[in-house]
Amino acid sequence: MRRGFFITFEGGEGCGKSTHIGMLCEYLHKRGYDVLRTREPGGPALSEKIRELLLFAKEGLQMTPRTEILLFEAARSQHVSQTIIPALESGKIVISDRYADSTAAYQGAARSIAMGEVKMLNKFATGGLEADLTILLDIPEEEGLRRAATRDCGKTDRMGSQELNFYRDVRKAFLDMARENPERFEIVSSEGPKEQTFEKIVKAVEQRLLKNV
Ligand code: TYD
Repeated sequence: MRRGFFITFEGGEGCGKSTHIGMLCEYLHKRGYDVLRTREPGGPALSEKIRELLLFAKEGLQMTPRTEILLFEAARSQHVSQTIIPALESGKIVISDRYADSTAAYQGAARSIAMGEVKMLNKFATGGLEADLTILLDIPEEEGLRRAATRDCGKTDRMGSQELNFYRDVRKAFLDMARENPERFEIVSSEGPKEQTFEKIVKAVEQRLLKNV
């Protein structure tokens, strides 16, 4: 039986997900909520190992798009069963830095894997578990890449080293998905001051959480 609340954060490189997830966890914790912060690819130890392969292994340079999507989904499947579902069942608010929409945007739209196949694989890996709320942090791709480069001091992982067009496709795909699923998504621009972005995030979360009680 599910009792918790599942929030996912999505967006392109440098959109500020980590900062805002940190701030949101602290905000909710202070208000007495039991919160679990997690991320994709990653979470449990096995999924973190797969993350290493996907993002940092030198062998990854030869990775085909099909291998890539299967590894993201393998990591996700373990994450859902071992981490997300048990936490939701114990009543926690689970906040994940990326989830299935990232696969649709990166492997589907940007790597051109057919959307029908992506949806089928997402469903297989998640067993149909969807987020209750998805915050899409939106920022123009050039600005996001600039922020990511400053943050990472020029050290990027394999998924962060693509052409600009790739990130343009990713951004468009996220915005299209959000417009198609307005009941699940909240689009928040992260171009302005951090405090302003966070205020909008809190408003969206509180509205949905209250509806859920
Ligand atoms: P991460 O270091 O978490 O980057 P970010 O701070 O941008 O979230 O690396 C995750 C990378 O993997 C990111 O470039 C997006 C990509 N990704 C996919 O391509 N498909 C997926 O299904 C997921 C979850 C992530």
